[in-house]
Amino acid sequence: MTLRVGILTAGGDSPGLNAAIRGFGKSAINDHGMQLIGFRDGLRGLAENHTMPLTTDALANILTLGGTMLGTSRDKVHRMVVDGVEKDMVPTIVKNYEKNKLDALVCLGGGGTAKNALRLAKAGLNVILLPKTIDNDIVETDASFGFATALEIATEALDRLHSTAHSHHRIVLAEVMGHRAGWLALGAGIAAGADVILLPEQPYSVARIADTITARSSHGRNFSVVAVAEGARDEHDSAELAAAMKLLEGARGESTVAAARRHRDNVELSHRENTVRLARELEAATGLESRVSILGYVQRGGIPCAADRLLATTLGSAGAQLVAAGRFGVMVAARGQGSTPVPLEKVAGRTRLVSDDHPWLTAAKKIGTCLG
Ligand code: F6P
Repeated sequence: MTLRVGILTAGGDSPGLNAAIRGFGKSAINDHGMQLIGFRDGLRGLAENHTMPLTTDALANILTLGGTMLGTSRDKVHRMVVDGVEKDMVPTIVKNYEKNKLDALVCLGGGGTAKNALRLAKAGLNVILLPKTIDNDIVETDASFGFATALEIATEALDRLHSTAHSHHRIVLAEVMGHRAGWLALGAGIAAGADVILLPEQPYSVARIADTITARSSHGRNFSVVAVAEGARDEHDSAELAAAMKLLEGARGESTVAAARRHRDNVELSHRENTVRLARELEAATGLESRVSILGYVQRGGIPCAADRLLATTLGSAGAQLVAAGRFGVMVAARGQGSTPVPLEKVAGRTRLVSDDHPWLTAAKKIGTCLG
């Protein structure tokens, strides 16, 4: 019997998505004789039944392509905005799955996609998840494709900022992506020798950073490079956000959850442009001219590095084996150089953060990097 499999990419795009589509698709078609159907623009395409056939030809020449050939979106299956109104699209998605006579659905995505995949698995679909994110924040997997490339890009950017900071005797703050996790800022910060690295997991004090920078100046190093994770906050703002998150976690009932979510969003909004504010504060506290460079979307655009191509291909082809074996409701987690299936229940709703005893953090401290 020929198995029919749907595939989609959801959440923010990241390098390696096309390599994973290819890895899954080639194994599925060549090795197992499956038929592959792509859904456009993430879970929205599944809800709108927006498909494209994925033949061997369509999978050619995509290994090195950035972005995703399928398109993506940040839609949630149970709260999708349709004609300006939020709707639960799970029943429609189940109908489309049946209409396409699918035996399985493969979702390529991160934490948000894990939650959506679990909802669909609970609605009876045969789902598997391939872990992608530049944030490195998916639990239960050693690695996710996208991170290694973003790490290279952010490191190179910090290297370049180093020489201009040095030449102009300035503080240069580089804002690094990562959502609520500090992996990318910490990894790139260490790799590029940043003087200060600020993470969401380690609330900072402007006074402590200013002391470090002033001490550097007094030793003749009158410039500093600061790697700031986009989610990093000072002690006050960090406590405020943690309280809002806790409120949301504990909220029960539709209207209470909606109010807690609004509150959390407002708190996040009030912290917008945090890096720019920090630059002003450091300039005032140290007397050194400060500049901000927001690395932004260049971190997740363009060709995947070799490590991400390898990981995406390995996980993609392992995903095809799982579908062939009828193993569903799992994420294909990276384990060493191989992979292992992990139940979606163990992944959805959890975030992998930088722990206080992580070796990267320990190393940064030991070499004298200021962590705020
Ligand atoms: O989750 C990946 C990520 O790139 C985060 O690092 C960043 O916060 C976010 O996506 C930005 O996404 P958007 O495309 O929604 O602006």
